[in-house]
Amino acid sequence: MRTQYCGEVNESLIDQEVTVCGWVHRRRDHGGVIFIDLRDRSGMLQMVFDPDKPESFMTAEKVRSEYVLRVRGKVRHRPQGTTNPNIPTGMIEVLGLELEIVNASETPPFVLDDETVSEELRLRYRYLDLRRPEMLQRLQLRSRIATFLRNYLDQNGFIEVETPMLTRATPEGARDYLVPSRTHEGSFFALPQSPQLFKQLLMVSGLDRYYQVVRCFRDEDLRADRQPEFTQLDIETSFLDETTIMQLMEEMIRRLFAQTLEIPLHNPFPQMTYAEAMQRFGSDKPDLRIPLELVDIGDVLRDVEFKVFSGPATDPEGRVAALHLPKGGELTRKEIDDYTKYVSIFGAKGLAYIKVNEWAKGRDGLQSPILKFLPDAAVDAIMQRTGAADGDLIFFGADKARIVNEALGALRVKLGHDRGLVEHGWKPLWVIDFPMFEWDEGAKRWVALHHPFTAPKEEHVELLATDPGACISRAYDLVLNGTEVGGGSMRIYRPHIQQQVLRHLGIDDEEARDKFGFLLDALKYGCPPHGGIAFGLDRLVMLMTGAQSIRDVMAFPKTQTASCLLTQAPSPVSEKQLRELHIRVRKPSAEPSA
Ligand code: AMO
Ligand code: AMP
Repeated sequence: MRTQYCGEVNESLIDQEVTVCGWVHRRRDHGGVIFIDLRDRSGMLQMVFDPDKPESFMTAEKVRSEYVLRVRGKVRHRPQGTTNPNIPTGMIEVLGLELEIVNASETPPFVLDDETVSEELRLRYRYLDLRRPEMLQRLQLRSRIATFLRNYLDQNGFIEVETPMLTRATPEGARDYLVPSRTHEGSFFALPQSPQLFKQLLMVSGLDRYYQVVRCFRDEDLRADRQPEFTQLDIETSFLDETTIMQLMEEMIRRLFAQTLEIPLHNPFPQMTYAEAMQRFGSDKPDLRIPLELVDIGDVLRDVEFKVFSGPATDPEGRVAALHLPKGGELTRKEIDDYTKYVSIFGAKGLAYIKVNEWAKGRDGLQSPILKFLPDAAVDAIMQRTGAADGDLIFFGADKARIVNEALGALRVKLGHDRGLVEHGWKPLWVIDFPMFEWDEGAKRWVALHHPFTAPKEEHVELLATDPGACISRAYDLVLNGTEVGGGSMRIYRPHIQQQVLRHLGIDDEEARDKFGFLLDALKYGCPPHGGIAFGLDRLVMLMTGAQSIRDVMAFPKTQTASCLLTQAPSPVSEKQLRELHIRVRKPSAEPSA
């Protein structure tokens, strides 16, 4: 139907005839001459219709936004003063010779490039929203990224294998999406949270190097970088250790950035232990573009009268830390109050601070609601460790370490953005040496920090029995600009260690057999040492396209409340379907309170 894409028509085609197809982006009637901006996935092209050609001119008069047109015309220079150097086709236009309305369009529910349109409306008419050049470009880049990754893995001997979607619950720590079985009354499939167990089984089978671009399902609280269904680039290898796996993977990411974005990343990627990341940044996914750090000060506050500080300073699970903000003296009372409110989301009971007006004057040169509680030695130590200078501000967090880390870790990122401190560029980081377990105070039990199939360090196997909290795992996460883009580990390949770890997680042998019997069996039949990783493809594409949310790099995403506004899913189903599935739905009113 066409000779060219709209975006491909340029000055090399001057005086030639082209035929293009596309959507009407805009129609302007300039008293006697009609301009139509025609759009397809490659770009925009300006068409001109003169009354000299009455037939096409009359048709052009009928055309409205988003009509589908086919136009034959002649390429010519735009008259002086009407060129647009900002778009690739901005130097030329096409004089319409023949115009066919291929299909009409009702008035669209919104103008595509109107930035005030709500996301609800855009999601409801997602197919129209995807006509926006920005969205098409993101999907195009996503496709190029996936193709690059597939090629890289193929060239390195990886085999793509598909694994089941209808399966048993997999333990990535989120809630499962369940699918009722018609043929097995009262039984359910779970959609995979990841292909973790299947990829390990493929290693037992001798596949040696596996990968899959695979959809994963997790029923969890959604955020900008979390969707209920998302895509992993899932990888597993045999007979390689973590050093080799990480090298292979970071080389893949480096080449991906070099080839698709022409961006050189560090070689090698820096590495940091989990302990150091928590201590310096209060986070296991630190954004290294932000030059702010937490500093421990608990040791100099153990004996102060101020219980808010001395309590956590003497509590083995407590932490007292300072966060130094250069030029923070500019913050108003209201801004400090807002930050105090912000950290309360993470459980912080307050946000003490010291403004440094003139340190040469000693205490008198400082301004703070807590100064009166602090002896000189403590003030001196705080000033020295933070390196705060006149005009700066120091924030404090004091509580259980978990709360201080979450609160100050998040505050650090927020301050970085609010105060324009985020450095330009790309900061990849491997976080390593994660603890095996984390104590869940609510449930009073250990939970796996990665997942229960992650191997402990060889020299820490003994600690499993004696001090599980001190046991370090062979897990690694890849963090990019503060986003966790991938996570993996070396796996347990010996049955007795697997059983021991499951026991520590409160999964007794019977439950282990019931849930993971197939894996425990497989470990007995010659399981090779193995390990792997999974990348969040959506997150990677989000970062690479500069999008704010992974919703912007998925064709048909779900809302924050995990529904699809386009198809209106989830939706009630018929009585007949429910009966076939042996399911009775409780009336909402009959639901017992939780
Ligand atoms: P993990 O649970 O860390 O590991 O997931 C791997 C990566 O998947 C991405 N991700 C998500 N992206 C969007 N929405 C979500 N809800 C979501 N959840 C996770 C993240 C994360 O780094 N089986 C293990 C991997 C392994 O051990 O090999 C796993 O799934 O970018
Ligand atoms: P208060 O004694 O509650 O008046 O608190 C005095 C100052 O300490 C205020 O600036 C509070 O915001 C701050 N503060 C209170 N609790 C904490 C805490 N757990 N961590 C950090 N600062 C706190």
